Amino acid sequence: MNVDGNPTRTIWPATDGISVEIIDQTLLPHRYEIATLRKVDDAAHAIKAMLVRGAPLIGATAAYGIWLAMLADTSNAGLERAYAQLFATRPTAVNLRWALDRAKEALDPLSPNDRTDRARTLAAEICDEDVGINHAIGQAALPLIEKIAAKKPAGEPVNILTHCNAGWLATVDWGTATSPIYQAHDAGIPVHVWVDETRPRNQGFNLTAWELLNHGVPHTVIVDNAGGHLMQHGQVDLVFVGTDRTTASGDVCNKIGTYLKALAAHDNNVPFYVCLPSPTIDWTVHNGVNEIPIEERSGEEVTHIAGLDENGNVSTIQIPPAGSPAANPAFDVTPAKYVTGLVTERGICDASAEGLSELFPDRS
Ligand code: MRU
Repeated sequence: MNVDGNPTRTIWPATDGISVEIIDQTLLPHRYEIATLRKVDDAAHAIKAMLVRGAPLIGATAAYGIWLAMLADTSNAGLERAYAQLFATRPTAVNLRWALDRAKEALDPLSPNDRTDRARTLAAEICDEDVGINHAIGQAALPLIEKIAAKKPAGEPVNILTHCNAGWLATVDWGTATSPIYQAHDAGIPVHVWVDETRPRNQGFNLTAWELLNHGVPHTVIVDNAGGHLMQHGQVDLVFVGTDRTTASGDVCNKIGTYLKALAAHDNNVPFYVCLPSPTIDWTVHNGVNEIPIEERSGEEVTHIAGLDENGNVSTIQIPPAGSPAANPAFDVTPAKYVTGLVTERGICDASAEGLSELFPDRS
């Protein structure tokens, strides 16, 4: 998507041929800066410290991390070490394991001399595939928006609620949940997005709002607790969210708070769609609530908040009393029964084992 009118991806190989560049997402929305990854340690740090985040982008960064590792050491031990180091960065998004397994499978049979080039081309392939997949997700979900738009008085927007950032910043480009929104907007269909703040790290305010503003998509930022009220009052036509791991039976793990939005949507008959690239499906897991590892992050993300102060400087403040302990589960699981449909690059299916195996007979 465009940044200041320039087509931009979230990750790309640098022109020096030995490093990778990313948008440092910890600085958005108040500063736009590019960071350089030169070693596998830099790639691991970028994922762990969330300079890059979002399931597909975590996978793409891990693939480039393997390339950076191979630039330094192409031995079997070097490959094993890089795999283990990158795998340990974040536990929930399954795209990380998917990308690392794909790299290992491709590089293991090669002689060490051939590994570096293959690691680089593979990372580029994973990135290009991600862009194609996300565009296809947008195409698959566009009719959902068109159908609602056709029933509205001319010019009245389709109101879509989204949680966290499943936008282009969470992927290589397009985003998953935002791909149909961008495509509808670009096609001249009036859309308006309710952007959940997404405490504690505020990916909605910091990233989704920044993206939509840059692309000129009408939107309104809301606190996480507002969604249910808006749904009760007919102000949400559709919910689109992303996912970090979806089980073979259609349970959806996504940013903390997604489950509550799904419950509210269910109670108010608001369609709740999950947009996902197929590498986000974990075919080995069937019960999301019991089997998906949920990342526990620092309590400081809950107790402290950063933003622009009155002098235009980014500053961090503490909210609750210093002595109160904080818990910070970063994801939750929405059982398949609350999901209206899964939007994939192959089309839309029921959130169920049957629905997924119909779309992916080759994988189930
Ligand atoms: O902790 P994050 O910011 O990596 O979590 C991201 C999300 O939960 C997104 O909504 C999800 O990854 C879908 S990304 C297309």
